[in-house]
Amino acid sequence: MSLPVQIDTHIPNDWAQGEMLDDIRRTFTNHPKVLRPKWLYDDRGSELFDRITTLDEYYPTEAERSLLLDKASEIARRSGADTIIELGSGTSDKTRTLLDAFWVTEQLTTFIPVDVSEQTLVDASERLAERYPGLSVQAHVGDFTRHLGHLPHSGRRLVAFLGGTLGNFYQEERAAFLGAVADTLDTDDWILLGVDLVKDAQRLIDAYHDSEGVTAEFVTNVLSIINRELGGNLPLEQFDYVPLWDAQEERVDMRLRAAMPVTARIEALDLDVSFDEGEELRVEISTKFRQEKLSGELSAAGFDVEAFWTSSASEDGLLQDSDFALLLARRA
Ligand code: AVJ
Repeated sequence: MSLPVQIDTHIPNDWAQGEMLDDIRRTFTNHPKVLRPKWLYDDRGSELFDRITTLDEYYPTEAERSLLLDKASEIARRSGADTIIELGSGTSDKTRTLLDAFWVTEQLTTFIPVDVSEQTLVDASERLAERYPGLSVQAHVGDFTRHLGHLPHSGRRLVAFLGGTLGNFYQEERAAFLGAVADTLDTDDWILLGVDLVKDAQRLIDAYHDSEGVTAEFVTNVLSIINRELGGNLPLEQFDYVPLWDAQEERVDMRLRAAMPVTARIEALDLDVSFDEGEELRVEISTKFRQEKLSGELSAAGFDVEAFWTSSASEDGLLQDSDFALLLARRA
């Protein structure tokens, strides 16, 4: 029997054909050099990120999971949504908590996971279609910063953007993104955000500089991705991983620093790349939020914030109060 899974693709299969060329060229010809985090997630990158989520130091995953477990029924009831659109769904593991709560209310008809990785989506969609018989799963392979316009327009929709991924955006990108979500939604549709909160600097650094070195490997892997996709020879071993807490911008700033002068070539760009000793490449930022400021940004984008729930400390001592938050807002 074929499962009710539908896959729509909005990006070319071959990354190197698309946006990646322009983006990586821009990265290596600019000063300072800044990369977009979306290139981190090839199969290996997704696998490494999954490992990060199991580390003791990386509190966000568990904090969000327990908060979702606690609030999912209330989210189902208050939103009345019959369609969940999950942006950057990945393996949809955390989503199951949300879907379970919606499923028992019998209000849920449609789940629309959106992710750049087709394989991840196919696997996740088939698992979900089995777990929730009768649920229509309409996966979209796409970049949620670009393809929101392709999403279906029926039903009472809830857009879920979890895992703290909103923190990957810069301020202007975040405003544009929230505005674009607001534009695709109708009045009385919903947005659910999972966001990491400002906290003690040492815990933040520990979360992004784990003792097993998984985060360092995850961040450094982006050089392998560039090498493979664009015919490059960036020498991974000549870079050190340096995570910083930027207290001014309230974000973790993940960089690769050239341990020596580095020269490399990227064939597909016909580009020679060089780093001075100590020169850095910023690979990713992870902004941490405060309730008031974030709520203001949602209002500015056209939402009414209806709830802001913060996570609780755990008995094992790994989680403290207010590590993470869920924000539920209605399109005004
Ligand atoms: C998937 C973007 C939420 O910022 O915490 C984790 C990515 N990078 N460790 C985060 C990440 C290094 C993660 N997000």
